[in-house]
This record gives sequence, structure tokens and C-alpha cells, in this order.
Amino acid sequence: MYTYKDVKLYLVQGDITTMAVDAIVNAANNTLLGGGGVDGAIHRAGGPTILEQCKKIGGCPTGEARITTAGNMPSKYVIHAVGPVYKGGNKNEDKLLYSAYYNSLKLAKEYNLKTIAFPAISTGAYGYPKDEACHIAIKAVMDFIDKEGGIEEVYFVLFGQDNYTLYEEKLNSKLNK
Ligand code: APR
Repeated sequence: MYTYKDVKLYLVQGDITTMAVDAIVNAANNTLLGGGGVDGAIHRAGGPTILEQCKKIGGCPTGEARITTAGNMPSKYVIHAVGPVYKGGNKNEDKLLYSAYYNSLKLAKEYNLKTIAFPAISTGAYGYPKDEACHIAIKAVMDFIDKEGGIEEVYFVLFGQDNYTLYEEKLNSKLNK
């Protein structure tokens, strides 16, 4: 466990659908109508109420986030964040990925949520290079803590060993553990 200005940061290797936090973040697409990867896992584990609410929302621009129930999962809410498809790095992908994390945290704060779990957004089907995505994710979270506060615990939930090791190395160096 790491701390940054009294906020606890955790690294977890596993399935984000099992996290008992206020909100888990989904790596969604613009339609919010589900898909594979973590999106598929969340809809499968949470059940149809999530999709029903997503249909009413009617989509989400890249870099933004929307909130629904978590249905049958142990978390209270799902924050559906839409990361960018990686197209080589010259189409503002870094700013869009940063915004997806930052806007998820802003939405959590609006709902007065204290604990949030993130997957490695855009690093699967959307092809974002894992190392750069990890840096952006951690920077967005630390910037939010500096500027906005309100969050008490942030979990980075990594499905694969590769991402886990990356996040561990980055957090060790940034928080000089
Ligand atoms: N828990 C945590 N992380 C997971 C899980 C899970 N159950 N399943 C997959 N992951 C990880 C992947 O290993 C990857 O590192 O989530 C990360 C993001 O991968 P994707 O789910 O493919 O998401 P992304 O790259 O953002 O692509 C989004 O894929 O599933 C579709 O509908 C989704 O169109 C959207 C696109």
C-alpha cells in the first residue's frame, strides 16, 4: 500500500468485478452498450440493470465518464470511462486517457464516493502502450489528489502480471518506496 497526501493507493492483481469499493471504473466504449474485456466482465457480473441504465444515458464521449448502478457486484456504482483507441500517439490520446481517469474521479467526488478502483484503461483492445498508460493513470490520480481531494482510497486493479509489475515499479519510484 502507498500513501500520497493521506490518500491510500493500492495495487491489486485480479478481477475488478470482485472489488468491494464505492465505485469500480469500467473501460467502456462510446456506446456504453458493453463489449469484451473488463466491460464484458462488468456487465456479466453486474447483470442487466447496468445495461438498462447505460441505454438511458445514451453514450459517452471519449475522455469522459458516466455512472450507473453496479447491479449484483459488491461495489455500489460503476463509473464507465471511455479511453482512447491508441492510434500512434499523435491524436491527443495521452490527454484523452488522462481525462478518462480525471473525469472518473470528478464524478466519484460529485457522488461523495471515497473509494474507487481502476482497471488499466485502454491497454487491452484499445492498444495503448502499457508503460505510457501506467504513467498517465498515476499522474492523473496524483494531480486529482493535489487539486481536488475528497477521495480516500484508490485501487489500481491489474488483470495481468505485466501491468502489475509496471504499476509497482512506477509507484515505487514516484513515492520512493
Ligand atoms: N478486471 C480487471 N482488469 C481487467 C479485467 C477484469 N475483469 N478484464 C480485463 N482487464 C484488463 C485487461 O487485461 C486490460 O489490461 O483491463 C485492461 C483494459 O482492457 P480492455 O477491457 O480491453 O479495455 P480497453 O483496452 O479500454 O478497450 C475498450 O474493449 O471491451 C471493449 O467495450 C470495450 O470497446 C471497448 C474496448
